Amino acid sequence: MPASPSTPAAEIKRANIRYHDAAAAEYDSKWGIDFGPIGREQVRAKVAKALGGWPARRFPEALEIGSGTGYFSLNLLQLGLIGRLVATDISPGMLGELAATAKRLGLDLETAATDAERLPFQDQSFDLVFGHAVLHHLPALPAALAEFRRVLRPGGTLAFCGEPSRYGNLLATVPKRGAQLVAPLWRLLLGASARRADPAEHEDGHELEREVDVHAFAPRTLDEMLREAGFANVRIRGEELLANVYGWTVRTLEGTAEPEDVPHRWRKLAFRSYLALQRVDAALLEPRLPPSLFYNLVLSAIRT
Ligand SMILES: C[S@@+](CC[C@H](N)C(=O)[O-])C[C@H]1O[C@@H](n2cnc3c(N)ncnc32)[C@H](O)[C@@H]1O
Repeated sequence: MPASPSTPAAEIKRANIRYHDAAAAEYDSKWGIDFGPIGREQVRAKVAKALGGWPARRFPEALEIGSGTGYFSLNLLQLGLIGRLVATDISPGMLGELAATAKRLGLDLETAATDAERLPFQDQSFDLVFGHAVLHHLPALPAALAEFRRVLRPGGTLAFCGEPSRYGNLLATVPKRGAQLVAPLWRLLLGASARRADPAEHEDGHELEREVDVHAFAPRTLDEMLREAGFANVRIRGEELLANVYGWTVRTLEGTAEPEDVPHRWRKLAFRSYLALQRVDAALLEPRLPPSLFYNLVLSAIRT
């Protein structure tokens, strides 16, 4: 459930910093973030979907918004799509994880802890502004879009992926509730015990999970916002329908068990099945159904 529309912007931002700082160390394992061939392929497919194909030329200077632990930026660097990269996030904890992973992978980049709505960069200094799963956290989205336009060179590209759609968000409540109902039986079959309450989770920011999300988007509203902010060639597509229902079922089931009781073989099988359903969505459903039906929206636009 997103934050109430009356929650002040400063409060939402403080919640985002606290929540993501607390989540940073476990973030990659919680969300299955990968920096090897699987992660690279996922990111390549999402960016190609957003841009309408994989670009023939690299972007010399790129800025990521809400980089988190580096899922998009580090994989895009490895794929060679960007030259110089500046990775930004409002959470210093997430950027710390990103910098450590970049060092382990031997990747060169700059980081800056900053709010997306106030970017400490000169006008027209980037060829690409991009991000994954971040726009829905920004309380004043028009102000953030104005900043993205300001720092982009004319003709520069905006690309965001993994933004929740309004219907997709509603649809996700079905597997979440269904999985809660069958969870005791699932744990019995796997021999897993129910997750014990962790008192630390209510002190270190995890309890803010419901307060950090602000928007779920209707494609048409997003399209209008982008045009009003001075972008052209707006392209919005949907992704993940079956994979979304399955993914939330698995994540909810696993969340009810003690993590070490969930067998590695189950996790591996669940992840492979998820990837297979992503492929079914991409091949059969995404080209045929309207973007609003999917869980995630991917978008791109050109700075006028
Ligand atoms: C759902 S996470 C996604 C992280 C990463 N892009 C990924 O896909 O794994 C959202 C990120 O946006 C960041 N964020 C939230 N509000 C922000 C703001 N106002 N300005 C910049 N980043 C923000 C959070 O700290 C968090 O790292």
